[in-house]
Amino acid sequence: MSNSPFISNCAADTIRDAALALKAGHLVAFPTETVYGLGADARNPEAVKRIFEVKGRPTDHPLIIHISSMNQLDKWATDIPKYAIDLARAFWPGPMTLILKRTDFVKDFITGGQNTVGLRVPSDSIAQSLLQEFEKISGSGIAAPSANRFGQVSPTSSADVFEELGDYLSDFDLVIEGGNSTIGIESTIVDCTGDSPIILRPGFVTKENIQSELGSYSVDQYRTSDIKFSGSFEKHYAPECKIILSPEVIEGAGFLALFDFDTPTGMKRIAAPKTVEEFARVLYSTFRSADRIGFSSLVILPPLGTGIALAIRERLEKASRGR
Ligand code: TXA
Ligand code: MG
Repeated sequence: MSNSPFISNCAADTIRDAALALKAGHLVAFPTETVYGLGADARNPEAVKRIFEVKGRPTDHPLIIHISSMNQLDKWATDIPKYAIDLARAFWPGPMTLILKRTDFVKDFITGGQNTVGLRVPSDSIAQSLLQEFEKISGSGIAAPSANRFGQVSPTSSADVFEELGDYLSDFDLVIEGGNSTIGIESTIVDCTGDSPIILRPGFVTKENIQSELGSYSVDQYRTSDIKFSGSFEKHYAPECKIILSPEVIEGAGFLALFDFDTPTGMKRIAAPKTVEEFARVLYSTFRSADRIGFSSLVILPPLGTGIALAIRERLEKASRGR
């Protein structure tokens, strides 16, 4: 286990220390409203290389760059369509990533050599402070994938980050403690490189939200796109226990469903979320609890309907394919 300092006091000077660590080429895991990210200076090839090593992620899988505000957009992206500006105005800061044509400021080590870049302005106050401090010391942009080992469950607390990456971080890397992520599933990813937007990964910003913002455009979801997109791997987000998405009764299995479903006799309820938002928030921590308790199976009744329920089902379907 590494001795990575655990920053639990998020006073301004500790955030500044974290920004300085990034500038010096170290990794800083930080909270966002979606999930925790494993951050590096987006302009430092050695630091970014370590993200891939620590995650065990193939280097041709592009990283999202986090920026403090829309004002930074032109540095990283060019030929930005009007609908993308409208989306940024409507949903940033927040849980949405835009895929845009990149400028020369974006290097191949971020994008896996592709001519596009993923950009996000997070709303979490610690993430915002960190980005702003980083910019004050002439940093620009923090590259950050979710702070988990490749293909595993995204972390929604600093303890989860330690569980995932503690063995791989160095003594100079930092993990910022910022409570539980309020949304709990990864950002909505919108491909903005064509005439109209395509949702590549559903999330808390829903197709309905996007459509109502962009009245006249057609908003597609899940259309096969030739963009490389690791979240689209069939197996992803999977815990060790087997995820079963049908109402089976399995003696001794874990159980997750909205609160109005009774727990079948012989099964152990792990959570009873009251809303789909709460379902999303507790989803990954439920996976982790199930593994910690040692369940061999976790039976889940997926929430029905569109919007966030759809984003939850997308994660569940991938998780149910196993590791
Ligand atoms: O909520 C989130 O998006 C979190 C927090 C930390 O911001 N980040 C996150 O990053 O989920 P990651 O790397 O685990 O997932 C980002 C996804 C990957 O599937 C990646 O392939 C895709 O975004 N992506 C990044 N840049 C891309 C690009 N230029 N074109 C297509 N897909 C891209
Ligand atoms: Mg991820």
